[in-house]
Amino acid sequence: MNISTISSAAYSDQKPGTSGLRKKVSVFKQPHYLENFVQSVFNIATELQNQLLILGGDGRYYNQQAIQIILKMAAANGVKRVMVGQNGLLSTPAVSHLIRKHNAAGGIILSASHNPGGVDGDFGIKFNISNGGPAPTSFTDAVYDVSQTITEYKIINHDDIDLSHQQRYEIGDMSVEVIDSVTDYADLMQQIFDFEAIKSLFRDNQMSMCFDAMHAVTGPYAKEIFENRLSANRDALINATPLQDFGGGHPDPNLAHAQELSARLNASNNAPSFGAASDGDGDRNMILGQHFFVNPSDSLAIMTANAQLIPGYKNGIRGVARSLPTSRAVDKVAQSLAITCYETPTGWKYFGNLLDDKRITLCGEESFGSGSDHIREKDGIWAVLFWLNLIAVKKQSVEQITRSHWQQFGRHYYTRHDYEAIDNELADQLIQNLRDIAGSLQGKTFAGSKIALCDDFSYADPVDGSITKKQGIRILFENESRIVFRLSGTGTEGATLRVYFENYITDKEQLDQDTQTALRELIEVAETIAEIKTRCNRTSADVIT
Ligand code: G1P
Ligand code: ZN
Repeated sequence: MNISTISSAAYSDQKPGTSGLRKKVSVFKQPHYLENFVQSVFNIATELQNQLLILGGDGRYYNQQAIQIILKMAAANGVKRVMVGQNGLLSTPAVSHLIRKHNAAGGIILSASHNPGGVDGDFGIKFNISNGGPAPTSFTDAVYDVSQTITEYKIINHDDIDLSHQQRYEIGDMSVEVIDSVTDYADLMQQIFDFEAIKSLFRDNQMSMCFDAMHAVTGPYAKEIFENRLSANRDALINATPLQDFGGGHPDPNLAHAQELSARLNASNNAPSFGAASDGDGDRNMILGQHFFVNPSDSLAIMTANAQLIPGYKNGIRGVARSLPTSRAVDKVAQSLAITCYETPTGWKYFGNLLDDKRITLCGEESFGSGSDHIREKDGIWAVLFWLNLIAVKKQSVEQITRSHWQQFGRHYYTRHDYEAIDNELADQLIQNLRDIAGSLQGKTFAGSKIALCDDFSYADPVDGSITKKQGIRILFENESRIVFRLSGTGTEGATLRVYFENYITDKEQLDQDTQTALRELIEVAETIAEIKTRCNRTSADVIT
């Protein structure tokens, strides 16, 4: 084999965040930047030696170039086989599934998820381990350590291979299979959900749907699943061709960014009865009804309450988990089902142990993410199918399903306010101040309710005993309202402060308020306590979801 060892100087900033290493494309394109990080991964992931690696990404700018580099480095680092998606495309859930299905030792996903792409956008790289889930913090910390002192990397001298056809190649001693990106994943979905029941919804014209792939990776998956296998209405898909820059958009499925979809669902004439969108790499989802938005935290609660109606979960669910900032709507359902609800730090990686240990079946985050034990990532299209299957069984609209859930369990009004690109030092000071005053806030009364608990959330993993500290300041009120403050771990510019609000209402007369109005008092309390506007020189939040 024609292996070269290339000398390279270490970079000091290759610390993976909430979900892998994410940086501007310009940062990734610095000499040897990608190579250094990939070599650091190979140095730590010794389990890849002589084994299978799954490789693919969300199609953003630099995806294909990065794949060519990684293939040559994998061959030089002793990987035996690589399965790579056609045209370099694989959604994050598809990678997770392929790792599990083919007993791969791991996978590399090239994505910056919902962050914008293109030459001036973001790029990212993430390693998933053999259970199909994101590598744990112990792994990413070790990779970061190596990256800080790395002096060389290994690469094989070889031409680029053609990723546009499903074909087999040899690179040195390693074989590469360019595989169909969609079929395995679509088959898995068909095993979990009742495709016949969903199909009949469209056949009888009982409903129409609109799925916005946001010019990101789910386009080909949506075509195969919604158009070919489920025979959805002919105009069901929008923005279904993956583009390197996502058409200049921000591939984040929320009301702020999926505007075309939201306009269709809110149209006064001919609005589809069901709407959904997914993000850059296909792991997030937004669910809409006609003139109706389903909060992701509510979506998790509704899925949990109704899971037994879905073939894949007909035997019931073991337990559930949600990240700290996710509303406690699912806790109420877990209580009534007498199952455990785990509260974890932000990020999907904390669900892995709970799923592997069979403690939970469903899990989710407020950030438009939900999933189950079928893989070890959140899964956008899976969530859409879950809702379609529910609609088919219950014969109710999205709005009816959600409203009857509130009637039964009460409603958690919920919103998240993001302050983006704040000066790092100011953001750190704001959080530090909250830590400092946390103890003294306990017992004080704001807006008529007493603070029952105020602390910086720390998580003890019940499976491996690891402790994760400083995960967010939470303020719990006696009336079951809550405010959570934390800094984002995925941003690439300055700091992003996220403030999460929730308010629990059971009075049946008050279940139909506007969310921001219902939470106004609590939002004012957060400002009084944290002094966000003065400390960060801001007049309002940049994004409200
Ligand atoms: C954000 C979300 C978090 C999600 C992550 C990866 O992380 O808040 O729930 O797991 O993206 O999709 P954050 O930027 O808040 O650290
Ligand atoms: Zn994503």
